[in-house]
Amino acid sequence: MPQPSSWFSSPADAATRLAEAGYLADATTATTAYLAGALEKPLLVEGPAGVGKTELAKAVAKVTNAELVRLQCYEGLDEARALYEWNYKKQLLRIQSSQGSDQEWSATHDDIFTDEFLLTRPLLTAIRREELTVLLIDEVDKTDVEVEGLLLEVLSDFQVTIPELGTVSAVRRPFVVLTSNATRELSEAVKRRCLYLHLDYPDAEREREIVTSQVPDLEERVAVRLVETISRLRELELKKAPSIAESVDWARTLVALEIGELDEKAIADTLGVVLKHASDQAKAVKELRLRS
Ligand SMILES: Nc1ncnc2c1ncn2[C@@H]1O[C@H](COP(=O)(O)OP(=O)(O)O)[C@@H](O)[C@H]1O
Ligand SMILES: [Mg+2]
Repeated sequence: MPQPSSWFSSPADAATRLAEAGYLADATTATTAYLAGALEKPLLVEGPAGVGKTELAKAVAKVTNAELVRLQCYEGLDEARALYEWNYKKQLLRIQSSQGSDQEWSATHDDIFTDEFLLTRPLLTAIRREELTVLLIDEVDKTDVEVEGLLLEVLSDFQVTIPELGTVSAVRRPFVVLTSNATRELSEAVKRRCLYLHLDYPDAEREREIVTSQVPDLEERVAVRLVETISRLRELELKKAPSIAESVDWARTLVALEIGELDEKAIADTLGVVLKHASDQAKAVKELRLRS
């Protein structure tokens, strides 16, 4: 008999519970989230900025009452920041304090490579936790390729080897979400170990639902027009296409300014909330024929 999953009982259960936390998932997303939990496989979510990759991990943690452990990736991230490092200062103090006593060096050595002197970083923290944990490895494409090697042991065996202490295996597998903006290809080895979800901008209906669920004061008519305008903007070749986050910000702006009609002037006046490059704004004004 398979154990009931600690995460979701079905794709529909995933969709419903994520929605309760304000995350509106389409069928593919809900199914993949369910599978990641049921199969205990890491989930790689790829797609442009602002489509809900990070938010998905946060929402899973929230609705399952799991703790979110986050590893934010960046260029230059290394083992000491991702996995663990030894607390050198504390080790030095211990060595100094043992000098003068007749403790053998080997005893001191055994002493300073114990848990007490270990600084655990997100990957090891997530592996060691006994409670429900969502491990978010965010923006993994920003790290150097070498870090992926480091991730492999964690992603395939859910364990971490510390030479001085031995291998630490997960008592309870975390729900792992890796996100990537696809600025570079991830290695096949990492991809092979993951389920894959491509997230893109939502269709108009879902985006309207997301916007109105987060900004309930926005009039339905304005919401429709907003989503329509955003989708036209995304069709232009912009430096930075507006994301869901910008749609939501725009909705908040319109409510704050009490704009009840999203006409050309209103769009032109508030364009800075949506487009953050002068050249993108100029293009939008021209293509949408806005009057300011
Ligand atoms: N499916 C969704 N349901 C509800 N809100 C969403 C959804 N997708 C994105 N959002 C909103 O968009 C914002 C940006 O999403 P985020 O996860 O930070 O993007 P990224 O894909 O860059 O990680 C979130 O704060 C959230 O408000
Ligand atoms: Mg993100």
